[in-house]
Amino acid sequence: MPRPRTLLLPLLLVVFAASLSAAETTVGDGDGDGGQAVYIVYLGHLQPTPPDLSGSEDGVSAAEFAHHDLLNQVLDESSSASDRILRSYRRSLNGFAARLTEQEAHELSSMDGVVSVFPSETYEPLTTRSWDFLGFPQTPKEELPLEGEIIVGMLDTGIWPDSPSFSDDGFGPPPSRWKGVCQNFTCNNKIIGARAYRGGSSDGLSPLDDEGHGSHTASTVAGRSVGNVSFGGLAAGVARGAVPGARLAVYKVCWDRGCGSADILAAFDDAVADGVDVISFSIGSSDPREYFRDAQAIGSFHAMRRGVLTSASAGNSGLLGGHVCNVAPWMLSVAASSIDRRFVDKIVLGNGETIVGASINTFPTLTNATLAFPAGGSCDPDNLSGGSYRGKIVLCPPQNNGRPNDGSGPFSAGAAGVVIVTRSPDVAFVLPLPGLTVTQDEFDQIMAYVNSTSNAVATIHRTETTANPPAPVAASFSSPGPNLISSGILKPDISAPGIDIIASWSMLSSPTGNPNMKVLYNIISGTSMACPHASGAAAYVKSHHRDWSPAMIMSALITTATPMNTAGTSNSTELKYGAGQLSPAKARDPGLVYDASESDYVAMLCSHGYNATQLALVTGYNAPACAAGGAAAGSSSDLNYPTMAIRVAPRKNFTVSFPRTVTNVGAAGDAYDVKVVIPIEAAKVFAAVVVSPVKLEFSALSQKISFTVTVSGVAPAEGQAHSAAVVWYNDEHQVRSPLVVYTV
Ligand SMILES: *[C@@H]1O[C@H](CO)[C@@H](O)[C@H](O)[C@H]1NC(C)=O
Ligand SMILES: *[C@@H]1O[C@H](CO)[C@@H](O)[C@H](O)[C@H]1NC(C)=O
Ligand SMILES: *[C@@H]1O[C@H](CO)[C@@H](O)[C@H](O)[C@H]1NC(C)=O
Ligand SMILES: *[C@@H]1O[C@H](CO)[C@@H](O)[C@H](O)[C@H]1NC(C)=O
Ligand SMILES: *[C@@H]1O[C@H](CO)[C@@H](O)[C@H](O)[C@H]1NC(C)=O
Ligand SMILES: *[C@@H]1O[C@H](CO)[C@@H](O)[C@H](O)[C@H]1NC(C)=O
Ligand SMILES: *[C@@H]1O[C@H](CO)[C@@H](O)[C@H](O)[C@H]1NC(C)=O
Ligand SMILES: *[C@@H]1O[C@H](CO)[C@@H](O)[C@H](O)[C@H]1NC(C)=O
Repeated sequence: MPRPRTLLLPLLLVVFAASLSAAETTVGDGDGDGGQAVYIVYLGHLQPTPPDLSGSEDGVSAAEFAHHDLLNQVLDESSSASDRILRSYRRSLNGFAARLTEQEAHELSSMDGVVSVFPSETYEPLTTRSWDFLGFPQTPKEELPLEGEIIVGMLDTGIWPDSPSFSDDGFGPPPSRWKGVCQNFTCNNKIIGARAYRGGSSDGLSPLDDEGHGSHTASTVAGRSVGNVSFGGLAAGVARGAVPGARLAVYKVCWDRGCGSADILAAFDDAVADGVDVISFSIGSSDPREYFRDAQAIGSFHAMRRGVLTSASAGNSGLLGGHVCNVAPWMLSVAASSIDRRFVDKIVLGNGETIVGASINTFPTLTNATLAFPAGGSCDPDNLSGGSYRGKIVLCPPQNNGRPNDGSGPFSAGAAGVVIVTRSPDVAFVLPLPGLTVTQDEFDQIMAYVNSTSNAVATIHRTETTANPPAPVAASFSSPGPNLISSGILKPDISAPGIDIIASWSMLSSPTGNPNMKVLYNIISGTSMACPHASGAAAYVKSHHRDWSPAMIMSALITTATPMNTAGTSNSTELKYGAGQLSPAKARDPGLVYDASESDYVAMLCSHGYNATQLALVTGYNAPACAAGGAAAGSSSDLNYPTMAIRVAPRKNFTVSFPRTVTNVGAAGDAYDVKVVIPIEAAKVFAAVVVSPVKLEFSALSQKISFTVTVSGVAPAEGQAHSAAVVWYNDEHQVRSPLVVYTV
């Protein structure tokens, strides 16, 4: 079973996350006695609490009674529900996590009132130059109070509160609507809530970040502006989050063994009830899940119902199509892209050849050290111990056993340096000793030199910062679509900086396998780093438009994105990077938005085959769309989404229509014309794109106007995607929707 994780990019464990996961045994938190495992029993929306029970003395709510009652119906006499239930979800959504046998889970799944029963899985925890690169200025002083009303919920590895990024200097008290708590943690007026969950429980836990990931993502969203930050002199500058005036609420759900679904759902349940405005979720898996068997899709659905947007990572599963995760249309799925800065590192061989790789290497130059290939061909710590690598540069070939090839083996063997083969040449990693990553070809070049001489030596220089003119380009590791759950919803939605990002770290953790290395700010990569850029931008938009729905905020981010640079990356399409690169400043004033409400999502779910009974449990009301046409009614392409996507049969002629409605959020009397941009190479695929009507004339704010985009053409060959764009424009606004036609 794939393990959910935070989406930090681990060194050299990139592309084949799926096979890696398969080797793991099930559910870290779930192994129980007698064939029991942790399951989530999802019961849909929360019933209003009957008044006679709401204040009951022993604190057990009506929902919890109902959960025990339900479970007792399938347990035999020797077991009791109170021994089995780990957690009741009863603040924002309805359900519970319990230890069950497969048989018990099966019986529960067919009971009245149960939407789904699924095993809890363990997901992986996958300068801010990046904001300048996005053209997003620092928040002016007078706007900080607006941001102070915004609370961002971070589901992550916790937070290290002593970072200067989280100082509450000058902050007033939390917004009065805030209902969160600080569990075993001293909050301030910046970090206003902190809870922790593990294996369904919160007892005896601390939300302190002893890993670093959660502090990094939180500071990218809402870190204060801190001057003179660098990593050993690299990436020097001002570190800041998107919304330095906003508040943080921390929900620690990830531990050294990953992040459990049961805990993720508990955090969503609390965060929404506590009163967060945006949820940032840098956690994912190597494959998407069906919506009501996926804790984050369920949690974010109930968040959406309360007006809370969830922004999530698209995944780090690299080149192979269809691995994008967090694909529900009510959540934002964020891909990673490059910024205009790179960290390169040179190794100069004894024969004078220079090879340029990547790394974050702030050690002094390592001069004329002997090159050594590991005796067993592996840089695993176990394999190097006992060898004579002291003072040498160890050459590490690809490691295919799923263990990290992160320099910790050579480091513990006393080596002086390391060269590691990478599958992500666009990423620089921090290593515990002087070293760099290179491509396989470059590694072979070094090996050829080693084979040619009896005294192979090399010099490893310190990292240099260079410009990266092609940026933004999609990151090699960022998981591409298509969306395997809803073929008509383009995922990922958008790209944001996710390569070599500097942000706050935890002093309780080392950035490398060297335990003595401690930093306040660290440089890391992953869709985990891209997600908080989008979460922060969403919080920024929300601070200016408190009444906007999650769909309106998503639309604002998506339709104002900057098209990506695809030069030299022939296979990179919207399926890899979505609508383009995040542009927060423009998203504040998008002109038009594609709104969607719960009933629109429910209509889409009907088209997926969810029936009225299930959807009534989820929403608490009877879903008319399902009642009317059931599965026959429409497809996911019909959802009022800010992008348009359709899967078609290869090489066949096709005609498809996208019904859409835009809402005017510009000025009352705005008018828009439309243009359709079709790249030359896609002319056959988009033989005719007809937008009707071709002009939108508004007379009021919030007015809605509908239009239809009808596309006909000849589908591309198997496995290809082609895109055009539909752009509504006037002098002030460009409202751009990619239109993607793809084959499986
Ligand atoms: C607080 O967290 C620490 C772990 O850091 C734990 O040992 C302690 O029991 C926790 N205290 C409470 C009251 O939960
Ligand atoms: C920045 O830090 C460096 C050393 O880390 C120090 O020499 C310098 O004075 C600092 N500059 C400012 C403006 O604080
Ligand atoms: C390193 O080796 C090169 C080539 O063998 C030699 O020219 C150079 O002087 C050496 N440098 C040092 C500092 O020993
Ligand atoms: C590396 O170490 C592992 C674990 O000790 C062992 O199973 C494996 O055979 C070793 N591989 C080589 C190439 O020495
Ligand atoms: C270097 O020599 C090893 C055997 O000693 C061989 O396996 C490898 O292919 C050679 N590499 C190159 C690039 O010549
Ligand atoms: C593009 O994809 C095809 C098929 O998936 C693959 O063979 C080719 O190497 C890829 N090209 C690039 C530049 O990645
Ligand atoms: C709805 O779907 C559930 C699960 O697939 C099934 O058990 C139930 O019988 C269905 N109800 C109706 C009315 O079709
Ligand atoms: C498919 O479309 C092409 C171009 O639009 C047209 O020439 C051809 O006749 C169509 N084929 C069929 C079977 O309709």
